[in-house]
Amino acid sequence: MYEEITHPCVQHKLALIRDIKTGHKEFRELATEITMFICYEALKNISVKEVDVETPVGTAKCHKINEDIVVIPILRAGIGMLDGILSLIPSSRVGFVGLYRDEVTKEPVTYYERLPPQVEGGVCIVIDPMLATGGSTVAAIDLLKAQGAQQIVVVCIVTCPEGIQRVENAHPDVRIYAASIDSGLDEKKYIVPGLGDAGDRLFGTS
Ligand code: PRP
Ligand code: URA
Repeated sequence: MYEEITHPCVQHKLALIRDIKTGHKEFRELATEITMFICYEALKNISVKEVDVETPVGTAKCHKINEDIVVIPILRAGIGMLDGILSLIPSSRVGFVGLYRDEVTKEPVTYYERLPPQVEGGVCIVIDPMLATGGSTVAAIDLLKAQGAQQIVVVCIVTCPEGIQRVENAHPDVRIYAASIDSGLDEKKYIVPGLGDAGDRLFGTS
């Protein structure tokens, strides 16, 4: 299952972040803002518990999030989305999965893994701006499931049909949220029109 977040506020920021003229400072700010909006949608059905809150005037029946949230940025570009989701749910735990795409095979190579035990039983939110071939996302989900994760959501900024299909084939239980489902991949397996190399644009390394 996947969902494209078509809200005008998200689409406006997407237009800005795609622009080749957008520098790394603004790119980072936009990645944070877009992530907050997408996560807001992605978490709309999260379980809550009823609590009584004493206001200065009386008792209010309120609702608080009733899940352990574990955010998993895929290094390195996923780091660029972390502030956005932490500003929405500051109490989230954070686990890290380090993956890069081999330049020749385009397949993911794992170089780091540090996950909190709450991935088992909690809601795991995998963040990575680009879901291209889907190899990196599938590898991250494989690692999470090997640690017992059962509730996994993927939040990306841009994806394409090939990537969605690969994740759905491997993990049909995982929901994907994105600001855009672009037309496809080029010969270098970059998303077209996409936004280029997200890690380089976030961190100014190009
Ligand atoms: C990018 C991106 C994803 C991956 C997407 O990372 O951030 O992790 O590629 O491609 P896929 O869906 O085909 O696997 P990259 O390998 O460039 O590493 P970086 O984040 O360190 O720049
Ligand atoms: N990684 C990126 O950063 N961008 C793409 O379009 C594909 C993979």
